[in-house]
Amino acid sequence: MKIINKIAEMQQYSTLQRCEGKKIAVVPTMGFLHEGHLSLIDCARKEADIVIVTNFVNPTQFAPHEDLDTYPRNFEEDCKLCKERGTDIVFAPEADDMYCADRTTWVIEEKLSKHLCGLSRPVFFRGICTVVTKLFNITLPDIAVFGQKDAQQALIITRMVRDLNFPIEIIVAPLVREKDGLAMSSRNRYLNEGERHRGLVISRSLFRAEKMLVQNGIGRLGEVLSMIVDNISEAGGKIDYVEALDAATLEEPDENVKTLLLACAADFGKARLIDNVLVKIGE
Ligand code: PAJ
Repeated sequence: MKIINKIAEMQQYSTLQRCEGKKIAVVPTMGFLHEGHLSLIDCARKEADIVIVTNFVNPTQFAPHEDLDTYPRNFEEDCKLCKERGTDIVFAPEADDMYCADRTTWVIEEKLSKHLCGLSRPVFFRGICTVVTKLFNITLPDIAVFGQKDAQQALIITRMVRDLNFPIEIIVAPLVREKDGLAMSSRNRYLNEGERHRGLVISRSLFRAEKMLVQNGIGRLGEVLSMIVDNISEAGGKIDYVEALDAATLEEPDENVKTLLLACAADFGKARLIDNVLVKIGE
């Protein structure tokens, strides 16, 4: 496994691999890798000849009051894990190389970004679309793998790739959970023991809601959402949103909805936890 820091070197490497007819898959990450990230690497490994993992804490997707400076990092351990899972290249650029001080160009998705996380984090998806575009232009992949953990992000990137004709196949891999149901996340590191325990209410409520919706359909969706809100609030979570949207469009569901995205975000202590389940309706 090789570590590449320089943009030009990364582009040269990928260009050469493509000339040789190799299929390249990229897994974009912000590091501090856990089994959720590693499952994406496994997926990439199955699909491609060359697996590139990008490791870059992207400053433009953090608002000034957010946790850019304290975001957990452990580059050495990340590289060890990447190597164990058969990664060929770790691309880890410097922020100053990625972003010119006088940059004036952004990539903005204008509709899906306005829901869920986009409401409380207005520059978040602009930063993500821009950095992912840059990472695509630098790593030149045939395939890119994203996680269902960040369902809205995966949907927005898929839309961006379609709308801007990137010649890249997007694969969305399943959400990986701890044994007790907590969605794996680099930010779980912020949780103390009590918060971690109370944070389990999120996945438990989502699973309960899923059961209720599968049994009864979306007729009493309001009641189901109230149940989730009440449970999380009682456990001391500070709710950002609890929503049930059409998983394909992020619009309010109507009677024809096929799959619901039940999604929620809540703070437990310093940790913003997000989680979701997809619920097939009428099956
Ligand atoms: P990060 O939070 O590091 O996540 C990198 C990738 O891992 C994302 O596609 C995310 O959905 C996936 N992932 C995280 N936790 C997961 C879990 N429990 N199960 C499955 N997949 C999981 O998402 C980002 O970084 C950034 O926004 C990025 C796309 C790299 C742009 O900066």
